[in-house]
Amino acid sequence: MSKRNPIEVFSEWADLDKDYGMEKNHSASVENMLDFALKNQQTPFSFIDAGCGNGWVVRKVTELPNCYAALGVDGSEKMIQKAKKIDPSRAYYCADLTSWTPESKVDLVHSMEVFYYLNDPKIIIQRIFNDWLKAGGRLIVGLDFYLENKTSHDWPESCGINTMKLFSQHEWVGFFKAAGFHSVESWRHGAEKNWEGTLIVTGIK
Ligand SMILES: C[S@@+](CC[C@H](N)C(=O)[O-])C[C@H]1O[C@@H](n2cnc3c(N)ncnc32)[C@H](O)[C@@H]1O
Repeated sequence: MSKRNPIEVFSEWADLDKDYGMEKNHSASVENMLDFALKNQQTPFSFIDAGCGNGWVVRKVTELPNCYAALGVDGSEKMIQKAKKIDPSRAYYCADLTSWTPESKVDLVHSMEVFYYLNDPKIIIQRIFNDWLKAGGRLIVGLDFYLENKTSHDWPESCGINTMKLFSQHEWVGFFKAAGFHSVESWRHGAEKNWEGTLIVTGIK
């Protein structure tokens, strides 16, 4: 199968309503990530979902009592059109994550199943550290395609996507530390037979 870039493939997925399948399949890991990131959150916080798809995580977080601002950004115009159609009242931006900068820095940046599609994930991790997060803010990412999760290794072929980058848990943690994050932690959520679980990596600016 000839491979295409992720924006082309996920735009097609939006047309085919496969975004709802992602919402279903990713929701347990996202729940785990948000529970961790917000467990001690007692003050108002702002939020960005990087690679938001149809915006379901933005809508979920907006409902939390302490959230005063939430927005989503995704490179697929089709995904963003869908997000705005489902929820015209929220902020969704169509942009490439590697060049977009938010108008205001936020407390929490979340991203589920996105960073390994980028040509060099180190660049976005550094940009988020420099330009997206307030001091003391947190980045948390979830990844199902990684070295230890052998079941995922055929996804570039089965999904027909040309940019997917395979890194180990140790390498992802190293990217966070090299960008300047402290208190970097990583774990795997939802492991079962032949599935290592979602690799979750987080750190504080
Ligand atoms: C596997 S989907 C995950 C969507 C959403 N996070 C979810 O869990 O439902 C990956 C998303 O990343 C977006 N994406 C991939 N590369 C991107 C880039 N360079 N800039 C912005 N978005 C990108 C795709 O358009 C797609 O919506």
